[in-house]
Order: sequence, then C-alpha cells, then structure tokens
Amino acid sequence: MRMVDVILKKRNGQMLTEAEIRYFVEGYTAGDIPDYQASALMMAIYFKGMSADETAVLTEAMAQSGDTIDLSAIEGHIVDKHSTGGVGDKITFITGPLVASVGVPVAKMSGRGLGHTGGTLDKLESIAGFQIEMSKEDFISNVNTNKLSVAGQTGNLAPADKKLYALRDVTGTVDSIPLIAGSIMSKKLASGADSIVLDVKTGSGAFMKTLDESRALAQEMVNIGKKLGRNTIAVISDMNQPLGYEIGNANEIKEAAEVLQGKKVEDLRNLSLELAAHMAVLAGAFSSYQDAYGELENNLDNGKAFQAFRTFISAQGGDISMIDDLSRLPAAAHHIKVVSDKEGYVEEIDAESIGVAAMYLGAGRATKEDKINHSVGITLNKKIGDEVKKGETIAVLHSEDTTPNDSLEKVKEAYKIAQEKPKKQQLIYEVIK
Ligand code: URA
Repeated sequence: MRMVDVILKKRNGQMLTEAEIRYFVEGYTAGDIPDYQASALMMAIYFKGMSADETAVLTEAMAQSGDTIDLSAIEGHIVDKHSTGGVGDKITFITGPLVASVGVPVAKMSGRGLGHTGGTLDKLESIAGFQIEMSKEDFISNVNTNKLSVAGQTGNLAPADKKLYALRDVTGTVDSIPLIAGSIMSKKLASGADSIVLDVKTGSGAFMKTLDESRALAQEMVNIGKKLGRNTIAVISDMNQPLGYEIGNANEIKEAAEVLQGKKVEDLRNLSLELAAHMAVLAGAFSSYQDAYGELENNLDNGKAFQAFRTFISAQGGDISMIDDLSRLPAAAHHIKVVSDKEGYVEEIDAESIGVAAMYLGAGRATKEDKINHSVGITLNKKIGDEVKKGETIAVLHSEDTTPNDSLEKVKEAYKIAQEKPKKQQLIYEVIK
C-alpha cells in the first residue's frame, strides 16, 4: 500500500477501507508516514468527510495505537464525562464529586489545555501539592476508596491521536466532525470507561458554532460509542458565553468549590446536575433521571458533594487548606477593571475572545511549550441579559502585569451591549441517546 494512493482516494471523495485507515494510523504512529502526507490526508478528510463506518475504524485504530487502560479492577460501572471544550468549563470539578457522592465510580484521565480552552489538569495543579501522576494501582485504589480520581493521560494513551491532534492544530484541520469525534472517542475508549456522557458545546466559544454542526458531532460520537460497544449519550449545551463567572486556573477551582458548597451559579449548577444525573443513570445507580437529579441536588445542598471534593483533593496530595479557605488559592498581583463605554444589556459575550484574553494573561498556552500561570484569569461581572450602565465594571482581569492591554481590548471586544434586553440564554439544547 502507498500512502499517496490513500490520500488520492480520499481527495477524490471515495471511502477508505479498514485496511487503508489502519495502514495510515499505524504507519503515522510508528513514524513511517511523514507529517506532510498525514497533513494532506487530514485536509482531504476535512473537505470530503468520512462515513460513520470509516470514522469508527479510525477511532478504534487510534484507541489501539498505544496503551489501553484496563479498569476492570474498579468496583462498579465506570462512567466518564467529556466536554468538547469550553471557556470557564469547570464542570468536571463539580460532576466528579457529585457523582462520587452517590457511590458511582469516576475514573478520569484528563489532558492539559491548549489555545483558548483550559485544561482540567492545569486547573487542578493550582492547588499546591496536587498530583496528577500516579501508578495505575494507585489510580484504581483511589477510585475504589474515594469513588473519584483524576490522572494525567499517560504518555502512551492513543498516541496516534496525540500526534494527529498536534498536526491538525497547525494545519487548519481541527474543526472536522469525523476528526474531532474520532479524536475524543479514541481517548475515551482507550481509557476504559464502561459508559460515556458527552457534553457537546455549541456557540461562539465552541469548535462547533451552530446547533446543526454540534448535533452532527454529538450524533457521530454517540454512533461511534454504540458501534464500539460503549453506552454513550450526548448533551448539547451552550457556549455562547463562558460558563459561570470565573475563567483561569485557580479562579475556576474556586468557583467550582463554591458551587459544591451550594452556591447557586445557575448555568454551572444546572449543567452539572444534568450531566451528573445522566452519568448516575447510565451507571445503574438510579432507575430514572428524575430520581438521580433529585438526589444529586440534595448532595449539592447538604455538603456531601463538597465533602467528596475535599476527599479527592486530599487523596491526591492537594493542600486542603486552600479548599477550606479559597482565598489561599494562588492570586494575581493586579486586578484591572474592564469598564463599559455603553449602556444597555449584555447581548453576547464571545467566549472564544474571553478564552484568548485569559491566555494572553498567562492562564493558557498559545503553544505546547508555554508555561501557564495559575493565579491569573478573568472574573465576569456581567453575563447575557444583565443590565449595564456606562462606566460600570463588566469584568476584572487578574494579571501579573499592570497594563494587560491586549487582554483588556479582547474582553471589551467580546462584550456586545444592546439597547433591548435579550431573551434568556438557553443552556441545554438537546440530549442525544
Ligand atoms: N478535543 C479533542 O480531544 N480532540 C479534538 O479533535 C477536538 C477537541
């Protein structure tokens, strides 16, 4: 087989066979197929797409390209949750302890952030001492004891995806539905969960900007899950503004901890409960979504979910005093107000621009090699539908620099202020089973 023929076939809009897809994935992982040919194939897939069968084969081949984690030593049915990536998305820190609080095991392998979306591991590492590297035995024992553990993806989990994702990132081929679906699902399959709940974002801050595209991505991932024997459901949720009010690493841990303590940050609380309820039902802990939702809501309000969070942080070496007293989390030196020069109502907050503004402050990475700063970030004072007066503070930049002008401009640009009060922003659009 020759790689150039595989590229030509896809470029001409034909379906690839299982053998051709496996030849590419195995050859590229082994370093036998060069980046320029892999890039050409990615671009051909970007334009010509892939059938559901091709996508499932691509996913399985990527999942099998490295280690596959055997979690059978964990007691109970393991459900994983995955978000397609948003800004201010600290939902994992809420759903994890919530689901653990009803006895369902959560064994999560997470990654670091790149670009305008943050990474779960980076956020957790704002807690002093928190360890994301651990042996498989410790990971399993943590889950069996505490029902929740989050570990860094081991170097060799779906290496084909790792290589391809880095390549797609610099070749304009990230936002292709089969490629995103295959990428996400390959890691989920390799990391061993029995069932998967996907939080597929839609809107300005998401990979998929429209509901139709997001629905197509969600459907594709649910199909892959089914074809490859994992019960998968997808919730399509809004990313037309960041989730919650805090963006940045320590900032997001703080806000998640507050929600776990019962603070009613509406979008965060509602989306966390929705996802956690589906997780708990898939795990067989409840027979109905309503029962699960009710019990989980109780656990947010009675402190059980927060207690599960504390236990999880301390089991992984994190300094629990930072959680009990959130003012001990890393904090930036300067707090710079972003002031509105108009009056009216917030109509839109471009989530991607807010993510980029946070990255400029140092909360995220523009390139893989960048170091992140846990203390910097952005607090939104206003969200869609809120009234704003001229001269009022709409957001605060937490910065190490006294004049973070690029971030300031980006945040200003992100806010659209209109004269009319907009309709209430929908949070959950659809659930695809
Ligand atoms: N997240 C992933 O893991 N892969 C993609 O391709 C896009 C988002």
